[in-house]
Amino acid sequence: MTKNKLIGPFVQLLTMDKLPLKGGLKDSQLEIIPNGGVVVCDGKIVRTGNFDQLYSAYSGRLTVDHIEGAMVGMPGMIDSHTHICWAGSRANDYSQRLAGKSYPEITQSGGGIGDTVSKTRAATSDELEAVLAERATTHLKNGVTTIEVKSGYCLNTIGEVKLLEVIRKANQKLAVDLIPTCLAAHIKPSDFQGSPSDYLARVVIELLPEIKHRGLSKRIDIFIDKGAFTSEEARVYLKQAKQMGFELVIHGEQFTAGGVAVACELGAASVDHLEAIKDQEIQLLAASNVIPVALPGASLGLGCQFAPARKLLDAGCSLAIGSDWNPGSAPMGDLLLQTAILGIFEKMTSAESLAGITIRAAMALGLNDRGILKKGFLADMIGFPVSDSREILYHQGSLKPSAAWKRGAIFKAGEKGITGKQEKGWYFENGSFSR
Ligand code: NIG
Ligand code: FE
Repeated sequence: MTKNKLIGPFVQLLTMDKLPLKGGLKDSQLEIIPNGGVVVCDGKIVRTGNFDQLYSAYSGRLTVDHIEGAMVGMPGMIDSHTHICWAGSRANDYSQRLAGKSYPEITQSGGGIGDTVSKTRAATSDELEAVLAERATTHLKNGVTTIEVKSGYCLNTIGEVKLLEVIRKANQKLAVDLIPTCLAAHIKPSDFQGSPSDYLARVVIELLPEIKHRGLSKRIDIFIDKGAFTSEEARVYLKQAKQMGFELVIHGEQFTAGGVAVACELGAASVDHLEAIKDQEIQLLAASNVIPVALPGASLGLGCQFAPARKLLDAGCSLAIGSDWNPGSAPMGDLLLQTAILGIFEKMTSAESLAGITIRAAMALGLNDRGILKKGFLADMIGFPVSDSREILYHQGSLKPSAAWKRGAIFKAGEKGITGKQEKGWYFENGSFSR
């Protein structure tokens, strides 16, 4: 009995294959297979090509996920930057921002990250798992099949381990893949007696070995900016983390300079934010292998400028796009909408925008098994109910996928009340999936 399954036909299949990792992209570089199909076995892609030819080639020795009506297929979206494991709400911060207060001002007056830390410390693991699962499910419904998730809202050893354990547990249950990152270096918590360097030293001594021991995360993030950590403090911390074998990521140049130089010097996987980046740092990035990640959701949440995506691409940089979904600066959590808005303001081609949430996002996470529809890659795919791939960004995020495949298993919009197998529906009224 063959286990091969043919998915299709797609009016257009956008593979995202054969694109350079760095620099600007033209839409003519997009590989589009008309009347496309994808053959899948054990969760991986075996072949892509013309649907009818694939069907004949296997002379019926496969099952078919037959698509009714017009659909454009592409790789599942990858969100390379989120903070979706938190408790509480920061609607109060937002209303203060609407009234003209800045993000750093609100942080200094008792709101900001510290407020979420109090609420997240007080929440149980079960409560956190439930809100994380709900947000991850929303992302899957919107076509995101891999989600990076940061800790960073407990800021002590016991709490950060709690968050990373919650992320691990949710990952075991959910259909989407959650990629955990330790962001214990978000800010120095207000109850820590000592300097920021003392706090980071404590993280190195207490928390990082525990993360290693439990196998909770391979990635370490730090927020380098005014009100968080300085470049000097970060350098010491990151060097130690690197020596312990962690991959490095940096929140940098959101408000002030510093993060990009550290990222390039220490060979970070990515440097994220960059709303305040200057020409000199753009040149540094272009000469490095560090992937810049734009977070348009934070610009929309704070009402500030976008990262200069066009300039970065024109300088020869790569560019991934993440949602930064978090309770403070980026509460929206709609990656496609944010990508479409960044694209129209920054004049990014469809190829550049879509690469930023597929293959280039995969590279930012160091994942070389997804983000392209190609032999050997994971069968993580989404389908939009249209016949022209240009419709995807044209609707500015209001067009949602009507189906998603995670490792070849289908999730369809509109089916409800199914609590068991992922093949039967992608959104359940009780909000839980099983693998
Ligand atoms: O990426 N910039 C630092 N951290 C988050 C915000 C977290 C929060 O406000 O809760 C960000 O924007
Ligand atoms: Fe962030």
